[in-house]
Amino acid sequence: VVLPTGQEAWALTRHADIRAMLTDPRFSADRTRPGFPSMVAEAPQPARRRALSLIAMDPPEHGTARREVMGEFTVRRLEELRPRIQQIVDEHIAAMLDGPQPADLVQALSLPVPSLVICELLGVPYDDHDFFQSRSSALFSHSNSLAERGSAMQELQSYLHEMVSRKEEHPTDDLLGRQVIRQRETGELSHADLVGLGFLLLIAGHETTANMISLGTLAFLERPEAIAAIRDDPARTPAVVEELLRYFTIADSSIARVAAEDVEIAGVRIRAGEGVLALGYAGNTDPEVFPEPHELDVSRSARHHLAFGFGPHQCLGQNLARIELQIVFDTLFRLIPDLTLAARVEDLSFKNDASAYGIYALPVTW
Ligand code: HEM
Repeated sequence: VVLPTGQEAWALTRHADIRAMLTDPRFSADRTRPGFPSMVAEAPQPARRRALSLIAMDPPEHGTARREVMGEFTVRRLEELRPRIQQIVDEHIAAMLDGPQPADLVQALSLPVPSLVICELLGVPYDDHDFFQSRSSALFSHSNSLAERGSAMQELQSYLHEMVSRKEEHPTDDLLGRQVIRQRETGELSHADLVGLGFLLLIAGHETTANMISLGTLAFLERPEAIAAIRDDPARTPAVVEELLRYFTIADSSIARVAAEDVEIAGVRIRAGEGVLALGYAGNTDPEVFPEPHELDVSRSARHHLAFGFGPHQCLGQNLARIELQIVFDTLFRLIPDLTLAARVEDLSFKNDASAYGIYALPVTW
């Protein structure tokens, strides 16, 4: 395939080939390696790799860095957050019900819920959300110029640099604060590593989940039988969430690697230095794995989808995202059974120009 930058790369579309590539250590996630596929014209900058933290690291550095923070994302740890997430969701739905109609679900629910959750987890003040939400959407948008994306990145970096410095002076009991204490004890993480980690978690932690809340709500509103399925039996919600994750595969264009040596995949030789895209959406609609793949089938078992990637870089926040989505959909349709879309689907503005698919605004009434 030819990328918007004119660069050529391979595109993997089969579920099995994507899984094989993403677990093959001969492919590198290092964005600064020559040949790494880029969707935007941008020279590789070593500083950028550091800023992207885990997502741009290879073994053994990646394993070490991921283990440092993995304890914060265990299922048990995240389950402890469930009551607080429920409270955040309840409050935002109540506020929406108190406000004018139609309401924009993106501003009322989709964005604030994951933003508040990631802020509390990291120890970043939610009062700054206008700042970091606007900068992360600028960074995600492919229609912004390189300069605009660069300055959004710069501003987020400086923000996190100050945040981490404050925690280095007075460690707080939150994810970044605990990492600061670990850094003192083990010396394995530098200040720049912590800034990179905070940056990655802050931007990866809200925009993606927000998009899934909006798209998932729209999908439910178009299918009353899906709403009935989770309302009658909330034990089905986790499986429905997996199917929604598969069906939309919102972070499709962000899984890329470059071959560090010559490798053969599905009988095709990929040479060292050539870029490869793992097209998660294509893999998630591979008819060999998901029959009738373009149907949203709430009775399907879709857990082996690729919406969170696969292999060592598989999404660190996936269980947090799952809990948030499950709580939002269960609560939304329980509290507002007559929620209705207040626009025609064809008039909605979808994010076709961003690294993560989504909707810019979702007008609803009840
Ligand atoms: C529905 C929501 C989400 C989707 C669809 C999603 C998708 C993904 C995908 C596809 C990757 C793999 C990238 C690759 O292989 O190059 C990834 C990695 C990652 N995600 Fe998510 N993500 C979501 C939510 C979150 C949340 C809530 C957090 C943080 C709290 C998060 C943090 C991360 C991190 C840190 C990585 C990098 C892991 C590594 O390289 O070891 N994500 N995500």
